[in-house]
Amino acid sequence: MAKSITIDKVFKVFGDAPEQALRLARAGVSKQQILERTGQSIGVFNASFDIAAGEIFVVMGLSGSGKSTLVRMLNRLIEPTSGRILVDGENINDYGDKRLRELRRKDISMVFQSFALMPHLSVLENTAFGLELAGVPRAERERAATEALAQVGLAGWEASYPDELSGGMQQRVGLARALAADPSILLMDEAFSALDPIIRTEMQSELLRLQESKRRTIVFISHDLDEAMRIGDHIAIMKDGHVVQVGTPDEILRAPADDYVRDFVRGVDAAAVFKASDIARQALTVISEQGDRGCRAALRILEDSDRDVAYVLSPRKHYLGTVSSQSLREALRGHQGALGLKNAFMREVVPLEANAPVAELYGAMVHAPCPLPVIDDAGQYLGVVSRTTLMRFLDRDTPPVLPEQPEVAPLQLNPQFPHQAAEPIVRAA
Ligand SMILES: Nc1ncnc2c1ncn2[C@@H]1O[C@H](COP(=O)(O)OP(=O)(O)O)[C@@H](O)[C@H]1O
Ligand SMILES: [Mg+2]
Repeated sequence: MAKSITIDKVFKVFGDAPEQALRLARAGVSKQQILERTGQSIGVFNASFDIAAGEIFVVMGLSGSGKSTLVRMLNRLIEPTSGRILVDGENINDYGDKRLRELRRKDISMVFQSFALMPHLSVLENTAFGLELAGVPRAERERAATEALAQVGLAGWEASYPDELSGGMQQRVGLARALAADPSILLMDEAFSALDPIIRTEMQSELLRLQESKRRTIVFISHDLDEAMRIGDHIAIMKDGHVVQVGTPDEILRAPADDYVRDFVRGVDAAAVFKASDIARQALTVISEQGDRGCRAALRILEDSDRDVAYVLSPRKHYLGTVSSQSLREALRGHQGALGLKNAFMREVVPLEANAPVAELYGAMVHAPCPLPVIDDAGQYLGVVSRTTLMRFLDRDTPPVLPEQPEVAPLQLNPQFPHQAAEPIVRAA
């Protein structure tokens, strides 16, 4: 079972006169000046936030901002100067030695940037090493290690030695070692930072895949916002020991808390982070209830509202097709009586998939005759993406995603139109 973590007013000052340093920090004196004046180093200043059970929580910030200090307090490799750290509601700072050892053995594993694998031990022995230290009997630890290696894609490599493995594979062994204890919390301190970009992306996917098969609470330290955005459910951004913002990737990109965060955000490849559904906007939609009519009503609505296109949905809001005044006129030309909307669907309008990254939409948008509808896996209509929306997205001076729009209800076409009733739309009662 994954566990939650609460960080409550946590401070860490390196040095023997923390009170003096904290007084200056509260008065707004910079970390650098405090160090110069007192010799005390502010590691973490008044951090408070919650990490939900089963989420990937990324802590990011420039080098020296306090990330490692923060994460090491979560298993008390570093003792906080003050404040509480709760794991599933229990204050781990109250733990005695025995309980603390248990916490480190059973609940929390840590993965570092470079794991010094032991060259004279096999991959299996390296993976089982932590369990061996914890006194787990041989058969049991080898079983756990074999399973952990399989989870990270290293089945078959058990008998190999570290120098036979690539850097990426060695990092997988490090991850397997952490997984072998089957921890509920995984602390990963820049675990992928030393890997080259392709291997790194692979490892990120691997981690997301592992999360799907078994959810753990992962606290992931990174100085790379692209990585943070890709894997993080929530992100905390640190600067000089302060937590300057906590939010979802979306919230941070939409509304950076200050210039420091804004500078981080500017460098992000937003087009890889955001999906079509994130940038979809409202548009004119009509509901097709009768398959054999609707063209005349829809044409009238478009003409009256001076619009070019309408998106046709089923009563359950599944996307059916797109009509334009031109496609409607062409379908109706020479036709007597009612005509179903499907006869006027624009064939060149191909919907965008909700999960497609924005970066993959450019090609489709270049040739699109109108804003393109976005639909999810189930065929549900989510909105449209226009070339204007895409241009705004690419403009780095505006937030990549526009604020939420109020939902515009689809128009109900009057099946009687144009005969018995004058109005093309059925008004809600
Ligand atoms: N053992 C220590 N003694 C003194 N200062 C330390 C110690 N560990 C970290 N610091 C200081 O705490 C600050 C945060 O360091 P760290 O948590 O390692 O940052 P990050 O992981 O974000 O690079 C830095 O200014 C660093 O110099
Ligand atoms: Mg660090």
